[in-house]
Amino acid sequence: MAHWIELGKLSDIPRLGSRIVSTAHGDIAVFRTAEDRVYALRDRCPHRGGPLSQGIVFGEHVACPLHDWVVGLADGCAQAPDEGCTPSYPVRVENGFVYLGLDERVRGGVTILTGTGTRR
Ligand code: FES
Repeated sequence: MAHWIELGKLSDIPRLGSRIVSTAHGDIAVFRTAEDRVYALRDRCPHRGGPLSQGIVFGEHVACPLHDWVVGLADGCAQAPDEGCTPSYPVRVENGFVYLGLDERVRGGVTILTGTGTRR
């Protein structure tokens, strides 16, 4: 069962950018699209672990900054012909605040909310 953690205001995440949530199990990138939809993925590209939080967000995708693989924000999966997925996490927005759903194992190690991604 997910435990919801408040990350702060939606307006604190730049459109077409991201914020990073650091956990004991790795960083999670929280993305905001141009249409104010929010998604959360492990901040590791399914190719060679590039930092997706530093990628280019467009539509419902992010382009990895290392080798330009395109990863779906909703499912964390690479767009064909590339293959592989990175974990995705439930996220919701209520009254202008962003909440990230983490299971107990991950939630225990949450430490900080920092960083920004690039934007187009
Ligand atoms: S590490 Fe992301 S495309 Fe290679």
